[in-house]
Amino acid sequence: MQFPERFSDLPEYAFPRLRALLADHPAGGEVMHMSIGEPKHPMPSFVGQVIAQNLGGFGKYPANDGTPELLEAISGWIGRRYNVAVGPNRIMTLNGTREGLFNAALALSPETRNGARPVILMPNPFYQVYAMAALALGAEPVYVPATAETGFLPDYEALPPEVLDRVTIAYICSPGNPQGAIASREYLARLMALAEKHDFRIFSDECYSEIWRDTPPPGALDVANSTGTDPERVFVFHSLSKRSNLPGLRSGFVAGGPEGIRQIRKLRAFAGAPLPLPIQAVSVAAWNDEAHVEASRALYQAKFDLADRIFADVAGYRCPEGGFFLWLPVPDGEAATLKLWTETGLRVLPGAYLAREVDGINPGAGFIRVALVADHDDTERGLTTLHSCLYGRD
Ligand SMILES: Cc1ncc(COP(=O)(O)O)c(C=O)c1O
Repeated sequence: MQFPERFSDLPEYAFPRLRALLADHPAGGEVMHMSIGEPKHPMPSFVGQVIAQNLGGFGKYPANDGTPELLEAISGWIGRRYNVAVGPNRIMTLNGTREGLFNAALALSPETRNGARPVILMPNPFYQVYAMAALALGAEPVYVPATAETGFLPDYEALPPEVLDRVTIAYICSPGNPQGAIASREYLARLMALAEKHDFRIFSDECYSEIWRDTPPPGALDVANSTGTDPERVFVFHSLSKRSNLPGLRSGFVAGGPEGIRQIRKLRAFAGAPLPLPIQAVSVAAWNDEAHVEASRALYQAKFDLADRIFADVAGYRCPEGGFFLWLPVPDGEAATLKLWTETGLRVLPGAYLAREVDGINPGAGFIRVALVADHDDTERGLTTLHSCLYGRD
């Protein structure tokens, strides 16, 4: 029996690699998980009640595209958050952004570009589904460094025009996982001008948009609107996983141009898994409520302050502008991860597992990713332990 060749370049996913790295080594202390980005703040108090009230919905096949109430609630949220009018015909519900980032590429990336194999651009390091989408489509993934030199965002403008003319989709993530950088309005406007010039689409992964330090990150929809960019060029992905601490609910959306959304809906009418109706009802309540989001953000902001205090003396330390990961510089990310585990029981992720080696360089190799998802006291304990183990003092 044969298997497809197209995924053979893909390394194992980051977490099996982490398990393999640590497997033969006992933990050197009480185990604490700071490797997985699973939100742990309280979920909104209304979730149980809304599910109970809508329980009968599990007995029905749900509407594929989303109920009118859910599409309206999302449209209302976009209007309040970004001050831009995006009607329900420009929105498609998703089972979280991960599958959406994959399936939207399947729906929207053409088979060839200017007669050649298409290119899909992504930052390096990056959220791994972007590469999977490119490989599944037979497109060439191009990993563009998002390092200190480029403000931890990819510099797509620096790519040769012959590459840019083959691009079908450029992924961008803001606030970024793992680096925590926020794309400014200027950055997004320049990217849109590049997309207009070379005729490609932008997939803007904004699932961390509500977790920020000082100012709310700009959204690609809003920048597209103010720059007069063709709405068919820009697709944004949002989720309740991080905004509402509901990673297990599997609820999000993609918004973009009406024709692109029509194509995504068509693909999903054949092959998608619509959100169960009780989940759609909870999602309506979650998009309509900001109080729980503000409370959760305040908890993250207190943890950013904590990190600033603990790592103040670490050269190269940079507090994230948004999201909930620290991207900490170390001489060797795998060695640091192993040392932390064997000496303290703290579990973090080597940065190299979130990046690809290009021309002999893995831009994540000199970092570890540390998730600030636990409560304040546990986070303080974990970060203090980490600092003392890797940076010498506490
Ligand atoms: C950058 C980024 N995009 C997308 C996702 C997917 O999240 P979800 O499918 O829960 O919306 C994650 C999850 O960790 C992420 O970090």
